[in-house]
Amino acid sequence: MPLSETPNTVISLMPTLFIWLLGLVFVAVIITFVFDVSQSKNAILRNYPVVGHFRYLFSTLGEFFRQYFFAMDREEMPFNRAEREWVNRASADKDNTIAFGSTKNLTIPGTAIFINCPFPTLDSDAVETRTVTIGADYSDNPYAAKSIFNISGMSYGAISKPAVLALSNGARMAGCWMNTGEGGLSSYHLEGGADLVFQIGTAKYGVRNEDGSLSRKKLSKIAKHEQVKMFELKVSQGAKPGKGGILPGIKVTTEIAEIRGIPKGEDSNSPNRHIEVSSASELLDMINRVREITKKPVGFKTVIGHIRWLEALLAEVNKRGIASAPDFITVDGGDGGTGAAPMALMDNVGLPLKEALPLVVDKIMQCGLENRVKVIASGKMITPSDVAWAICAGADFVTSARGFMFAIGCIQSLKCNKNTCPTGITTHNKRLQKGLNSKSKAIKVKNYVNNMTKTVEIMAHSCGVKEVRMLNRSHVRIVQIDGKSTPMNELCPMCDEGEK
Ligand SMILES: Cc1cc2nc3c(=O)[nH]c(=O)nc-3n(C[C@H](O)[C@H](O)[C@H](O)COP(=O)(O)O)c2cc1C
Repeated sequence: MPLSETPNTVISLMPTLFIWLLGLVFVAVIITFVFDVSQSKNAILRNYPVVGHFRYLFSTLGEFFRQYFFAMDREEMPFNRAEREWVNRASADKDNTIAFGSTKNLTIPGTAIFINCPFPTLDSDAVETRTVTIGADYSDNPYAAKSIFNISGMSYGAISKPAVLALSNGARMAGCWMNTGEGGLSSYHLEGGADLVFQIGTAKYGVRNEDGSLSRKKLSKIAKHEQVKMFELKVSQGAKPGKGGILPGIKVTTEIAEIRGIPKGEDSNSPNRHIEVSSASELLDMINRVREITKKPVGFKTVIGHIRWLEALLAEVNKRGIASAPDFITVDGGDGGTGAAPMALMDNVGLPLKEALPLVVDKIMQCGLENRVKVIASGKMITPSDVAWAICAGADFVTSARGFMFAIGCIQSLKCNKNTCPTGITTHNKRLQKGLNSKSKAIKVKNYVNNMTKTVEIMAHSCGVKEVRMLNRSHVRIVQIDGKSTPMNELCPMCDEGEK
């Protein structure tokens, strides 16, 4: 057939193709109809055969359309568009000024309003943020941590290889630390060259004996890595207090199974607590055991329910001697994020950071341990006002998980537990990982930390102090139920101006 005749042939075939297509659609509708009316599991489909499927289609699509078309800038959860956009612009190192006026409602109870000084700090008077050393005087290898803002624990397993590489390289460039999360130490954590905090989860992945107890040999091997600066015992995590880590079987690849020492393809569920820790006193024993083996600072991560057990732990420290104290406590908010958790725990259990952090700081101060035990705050701390609030409340450092996920491209599609993350961050599907270029995303991580630091400094200068660590509770007011604000040092008087 000559080439010039091809278009005519295609056009003449179109009516036939169209009739075939109509026929196929008709057959599909009939089959679906028969299937729907004869099944007994779904009432909607049985009562409304064929059209009932649109309900499910629309409720799935609604998830996406709401985000793009309907949700207002300050409406979405867990993070609204205004917050996500701030992170996106900060990580792209783009201009982060806005026009016309704030869209933030400043009368919602709990909102932090910083107290501007009539005579703010001149740029020429500002000084660099002081480096704080964790484990100073009490550890063989204290860690001088420069950055206030650091990367929270996300295991290799929950997040992908390119995500770990982007974060570890970005952390090195930014000069902040990266927490490994509970999935063990992978070569990708080390490859980036960042300072690392090794997390010992309740399953002790990477440092476990066959029976689930702590392996002294494996732990001291991890501690030999110069890059590993500290060890964090995970007591609990904000999104799932009382429940160990959960990695769905679909995400347990051969490599991840090897690193964790578990079977491939099977759900990886950590115990609800460390088997050897059933009291504050045993937690202290474990901290001291890990410190004795690793010779590095050791702390623990917890979400706060009631504060009495922490009181008992700090009292025990004062009994045993100050050297026995944890070098740091990471306070995770009940509203923290996760790769996978039961909704019942995620929604309902554990205090949000806004309530828990001042409680913990006050307890540490009441016990006279504020110079010994450093406080790391985590839980929805993704913008400068969050970080500045935490420092005012008494935190020494802030860590973020989801903030850094946004920095490397997360679009909050809420699919971390499905291995179908469209941005390649929480999936081991190679096709989806292709979109995540770890080199360019590492630069975004660096930009995010730098711009976060810069903007918190701007806030500190507006409050009239020379550097961020001089912020205290007298610099922030908290909006109360009547819409009026009260200075934080009046709400939580333990930590008065100048005490921190
Ligand atoms: C994908 C993902 C994986 C996580 N993995 C861990 C983990 O292995 N260990 C842990 O203690 N917390 C883990 N977390 C919780 C975070 O470290 C942090 O405590 C929590 O998300 C609060 O911080 P955020 O609000 O900045 O996300 C994970 C969070 C996310 C989003």
